[in-house]
Amino acid sequence: MNSKKRVAILFGGQSAEHEISCISAGGVLSAIDRERFEPILIGITRSGKWVLVDLATTLAIENGHLPEVDETLPAIVADIHGFRADGRALDFDLLFPLLHGPYGEDGTVQGLCEMAGIRYVGSGVLASALAMDKSFAKPIFQAHGLNVAPGVVLKAGAWSAAQIEGLHYPVFVKPARSGSSRGTTKVKSFAELQSAIDRAFEFDTKVMIERAIIGREIECGVLERGGSAQASPIGEIKILGDHEFYDFEAKYLDSATTVLFPDDLPDGVEAQIQAAAIAAFKALDCEGLARVDFFYTDGGEIVINELNTMPGFTPTSMFPKLWGRGGVSYPEVITRLIDAALTRSGHVTR
Ligand SMILES: Nc1ncnc2c1ncn2[C@@H]1O[C@H](COP(=O)(O)OP(=O)(O)O)[C@@H](O)[C@H]1O
Ligand SMILES: [Mg+2]
Repeated sequence: MNSKKRVAILFGGQSAEHEISCISAGGVLSAIDRERFEPILIGITRSGKWVLVDLATTLAIENGHLPEVDETLPAIVADIHGFRADGRALDFDLLFPLLHGPYGEDGTVQGLCEMAGIRYVGSGVLASALAMDKSFAKPIFQAHGLNVAPGVVLKAGAWSAAQIEGLHYPVFVKPARSGSSRGTTKVKSFAELQSAIDRAFEFDTKVMIERAIIGREIECGVLERGGSAQASPIGEIKILGDHEFYDFEAKYLDSATTVLFPDDLPDGVEAQIQAAAIAAFKALDCEGLARVDFFYTDGGEIVINELNTMPGFTPTSMFPKLWGRGGVSYPEVITRLIDAALTRSGHVTR
């Protein structure tokens, strides 16, 4: 009898982070504990087709080419009765969604799993959806005593000039449900504001304008263990070169950033950020994992920027790096996530 748990790794997808997701899947595939788990790969192509991917597929950067999910692979039918390939039910115990952004990190795939009675790694429908929409996550963080950047929310076709009067510049203009800094602009004066708003509306029907927080960008990983949330050591994003902020290019195109483990913060600040990360995780009712991103201002204030329910998960991404620093290896992070999902009660019980 095979007592290994079958884990379906779901990756790719229609968001801008398709390739990152493929690399994350390749990382998990090579690190997952094969003594305990038997992986299968389910890819979502750029056009949104679900396909069965061979385990021998290369899911890493090869000769400068980024991996992507092949549109011609055999299709999978996924509905509330479960997943089928070639007319046969796909047999697995747990889905590991390694998708970033819309249709993956936003509660939609989680909803499909709930309807189909499939266990899955990570946050549920509500937490995923809340974290994806910053205009909802922010007031919840605030209600739990966390500092957020002051700002306004504009809805397409329904906002007024009064909302953008008297802003303190510089401000950040960004889509409410963005990712990878797409559609985000730092605006230094009223004269530049309209074009930044127009740009953000290209990505979403809801746009946030926030006071620019001057400070360092600090991130903290949260991992659930035995039902309780634990925080990783904190890491700092150091932007090199002439990027104004942590923009798309700084994130992916250049080697324009490095991660540091700051040792120059006043005593107690790391612990405060870790406590804030756990508070944010609980505030949104997250499960499994999250990466919580903060600013640490020159005045010593800790301001939460956002929470990601499925952060970049390649072996060299921030989240595994933070846990590596905390003494939890990449394979161990994967095992913990799967164990947390397998023992979770309260949602899907199959
Ligand atoms: N209010 C703000 N103050 C200062 N920098 C900001 C602010 N909002 C966004 N940024 C900058 O823009 C980057 C991307 O914004 P973020 O809200 O994290 O969106 P995304 O989901 O695209 O990562 C941040 O990492 C930071 O560099
Ligand atoms: Mg961010």
